[in-house]
Amino acid sequence: MERLNEPPLKTLCLAWIVALGLCGSVIAVFLYFDQLSSPVFATESSLANEETHEAIECIDKPIVLLWFWPLGVRFDFNSCKTHFNIDSCHLTDDRSMYSKAEGVIFYHKEINWLLKNMPHEPRPPFQKWIWYHVESPTNTYKIPGLESLFNLTLSYRRDADITVRNDLYIRPADTKDDFVLPKKDKLVCWIVTNRNPTTGTATREQYYQELSKHIQVNVFGPAYTGKQLPFEVYYSTIASCKFYLSFENSVHRDYITEKVNGPLVAGTVPVVLGPPRENYEQFLPPDSFIHIHDFPDAKSLAEFLTYLDKNAEAYARYFDWRKYYTAIPHLLSTQNEFIQPICLACDHISKDKDYSVVHDLYEWYWS
Ligand SMILES: *[C@@H]1O[C@H](CO)[C@@H](O)[C@H](O)[C@H]1NC(C)=O
Repeated sequence: MERLNEPPLKTLCLAWIVALGLCGSVIAVFLYFDQLSSPVFATESSLANEETHEAIECIDKPIVLLWFWPLGVRFDFNSCKTHFNIDSCHLTDDRSMYSKAEGVIFYHKEINWLLKNMPHEPRPPFQKWIWYHVESPTNTYKIPGLESLFNLTLSYRRDADITVRNDLYIRPADTKDDFVLPKKDKLVCWIVTNRNPTTGTATREQYYQELSKHIQVNVFGPAYTGKQLPFEVYYSTIASCKFYLSFENSVHRDYITEKVNGPLVAGTVPVVLGPPRENYEQFLPPDSFIHIHDFPDAKSLAEFLTYLDKNAEAYARYFDWRKYYTAIPHLLSTQNEFIQPICLACDHISKDKDYSVVHDLYEWYWS
């Protein structure tokens, strides 16, 4: 067996520091003989210090290579720092860094069926390949040959190595809940972009058809209206409704998406269709949402929503969780949707130095 080598970059950085150190001493000696008088040398000396500092930083930061831009969408890697306060790795899309990268992220949907666009060079022993995929199993192609290629999974699944979700945060005890219920002029709303049955949407489509016989549903988005709802009005539109249909496109364990986070952020009660209530309760307080299976059928759900519409006190109870927890707005638009997962991968690689292998990826994903 090969020994686990240190990433070569570290050696490079070390050499760099030694060089700078030597350089620093030369300057110091020079300064000594120059009676420490020249401001020019003083500047150079502090410059050298700064560079030393940078060099030390590059020792601490592992390189994480993004092999494909997901769907070709690029973003500024500095967003990790600005949006998520993550700055612990050096993210790059420069494939010439491959042999030095401690982590390489592969976006599943970009992988070629014959794996032709995967790296051809051997994998350095310290390097971890990250399988990045956030679609549900219904909407996943089983590309052959990926079963035992990766070291880490990056997914919405709770048992992934790197889990990407919109979590609620526990409110620090000293902060106050300043929540004011937004003004509502609609009862039930739904923003829906996709009703292609091959993506698993038949279940929610059917439920919506049945529900709308008993209660008015305000529908937005391309699937029914043919019009994209502008991102600028996403949160305000949801906020203007008492209930929001958080209907997932397909039903799978842990597949609980931003469709629930949106109303929780906006101050609206999510009505969820997805995995069983118990699964939602692993992520959300029980009284923060209504599950369609809390009712025998769509008609009884509609009756309950109508009841809550007339009973302000009972309705308000769905917001009690806000005293203790906070929902964080998720970034909107395709332009932004890949930032958080990639930043999380960066953070993970900087902390986790363990050897790991994903055995039978698909068995894990579909079981
Ligand atoms: C990563 O996974 C591959 C494939 O299973 C394995 O050969 C390699 O030793 C693993 N490396 C690390 C650093 O975990």
